Amino acid sequence: MWNQYYRINLTDQEIQRGSHRNQIGGKWNEIGELQFRFMKEQGLQPDHELLDIGCGSLRGGIFFIEYLNEGKYSGLDLNSSLIKAGQSEIKKAGLMSKKPTLLVNDSFHFNLFKKKFDYAIAQSVFTHLPVNVIQRCLIHLEQVLNPGGKFYATFFETESKFHVDPVNQPNSGGVVTKIDSDPYHYHISLFEYLIEGSSLQMEYIGDWGHPRNQKMISFSKI
Ligand SMILES: C[S@@+](CC[C@H](N)C(=O)[O-])C[C@H]1O[C@@H](n2cnc3c(N)ncnc32)[C@H](O)[C@@H]1O
Repeated sequence: MWNQYYRINLTDQEIQRGSHRNQIGGKWNEIGELQFRFMKEQGLQPDHELLDIGCGSLRGGIFFIEYLNEGKYSGLDLNSSLIKAGQSEIKKAGLMSKKPTLLVNDSFHFNLFKKKFDYAIAQSVFTHLPVNVIQRCLIHLEQVLNPGGKFYATFFETESKFHVDPVNQPNSGGVVTKIDSDPYHYHISLFEYLIEGSSLQMEYIGDWGHPRNQKMISFSKI
């Protein structure tokens, strides 16, 4: 399998102890709040439909669910034990009444939610994915984004298209990214290529204050 998240299988006891908070990368509050603040700055309102792609155990999700109106949060992840941990976070935060929808799926089958979305986010997800899997994500996302809808994704950047050696990501606390294994880095032109001929338009946002130097890119549906 092409990323480490297939292997995580948390027991109920581990979930009770909160082990999932480290399994999805740590910095639980900092990165949770960072993505929430960012999406609000981009215009996310309580009545918008939000799709959280690779939502994990809801590091950002808990903030989004609290803010959004009932039924407006949809999260998808390939790992069922991380989703289970997310459900326990929802209970712990007293947010059951917000009725979020969580799905386990590893092929980005967003149509299973049976709705269209105004906003989507994939925080620290493309950083773990090979390009053909990112392509699958973008193709499925195009089908479920409302016209004018926006998708924000983080990635590790490399400055040259032709760079094959590992990259020590600056200001990342020691993250080393690679061209062909997790964590992956990409040149921005790759995303332009992936959406060519689609109804998506891309904007490079770059630095958005991520503590491991993940950059932000946005895709808007025309
Ligand atoms: C570093 S975690 C980030 C989780 C969450 N976005 C957050 O900020 O806490 C990466 C997540 O992406 C999920 N993931 C990786 N590949 C995926 C795929 N093909 N489909 C759905 N989820 C995926 C992993 O299971 C994991 O939960």
